[in-house]
Amino acid sequence: MSLRKRSVRDLAVAGKRVLIRADFNVPYDERMRIVSDARIVESLPTIRHCLDAGARQVVLCSHLGRPDGKVVESMRLAPVGRRLAELLGEPVAMAPDCVGPEVEKALAACAERVALLENLRFHAAEEAGNDAFAAALARHGDLFVSDAFGAAHRAHASIAGVPKLLPSAAGLLLLAELAAFARILLNPARPLMAILGGAKVKDKLKVVRNLIERVDALLIGGGMAYTFLAARGVKIGKSILDADRVAEVGALLEKAAARGARVLLPEDHVAARENAPDAAPVPCDASIPDSMYGLDIGPRTAERYAREIAGARTVVWNGPMGVFERPAFAAGTRRVAEALAASTGLTVVGGGETVAAVEQFGLKARIRHVSTGGGASLELLEGKTLPGVAALPDI
Ligand code: 3PG
Repeated sequence: MSLRKRSVRDLAVAGKRVLIRADFNVPYDERMRIVSDARIVESLPTIRHCLDAGARQVVLCSHLGRPDGKVVESMRLAPVGRRLAELLGEPVAMAPDCVGPEVEKALAACAERVALLENLRFHAAEEAGNDAFAAALARHGDLFVSDAFGAAHRAHASIAGVPKLLPSAAGLLLLAELAAFARILLNPARPLMAILGGAKVKDKLKVVRNLIERVDALLIGGGMAYTFLAARGVKIGKSILDADRVAEVGALLEKAAARGARVLLPEDHVAARENAPDAAPVPCDASIPDSMYGLDIGPRTAERYAREIAGARTVVWNGPMGVFERPAFAAGTRRVAEALAASTGLTVVGGGETVAAVEQFGLKARIRHVSTGGGASLELLEGKTLPGVAALPDI
């Protein structure tokens, strides 16, 4: 799959209606207030480019949440429309739905330059990748721009179907994401280092398998590290373990060794007697006593990882090093985040929790590329083809 796509800058948008697929799947709280507007902010350059280049109308579409093909009031896009209008500094018209004659009439009569369609996933046809639904969406634009990197791994109608029907290009956010991942996956500046963490080893095994073919070193932390340690015969106490995958992890470690890729595992830990919100931290050496849970990498490991990161020219990070939401177990994740922030190389961070961590530590602005896609960035690192990228014309 080529990562070099035709840009929105190469489309003649003047006087045209431009349909843009964005990923406005932003977190809401229980009162339908937006918790992080990062994905809306990141969509602005493409919208502004189209407006500045004289587009007659910009029609935005997105999913929000997983309403399973029916209208769910708490998953309406109105709060996104309001925030977008504030950020753009001009009104955004809200369409009553995303397809159908009523929507077409509303768009045709719309005085605003920017309109937002209602949640695509209120129709089951979106996730089914239905051709007729894609055709109904395509009626809203003369041109199509895909900027939904966060959803590019979904073969849904608005993502993989519409580009077959309209002259299409990638938006500026999608291009920035693809450029960052291309610099990891194709001819990276070396040393290339990947840091993987998070609780579930099963979510990351395909990434490990693909990356050990490419990286100079792989640094492992978080809950997944305990299955790796178990595969090396280290005692992990009551720490989270995926017993079904120990053999597979062992085989991956052998493969990495045979290829000369270094895989670094925690050499000390911050543990606790119970895995509870107010648990007290207990420093542990290499092996964790039978009665304890490992909840963060230890200070020696954190310093070693920070030194490795300082020596790398390309670093990609997905998955926290410990239970960073609890201050007593946040130090390892914080140290890794600080090391990335201090790096002069290319630093790329992806995954919802990891992005939340760099935000929590106030370091987001010092990371070169913070990805808006969790699942999509993992699938790219797994070496998979993303349907939303494959569907767009190459340059
Ligand atoms: C995301 O937040 O990962 C994307 O918007 C995709 O959402 P989904 O996992 O519900 O398809």
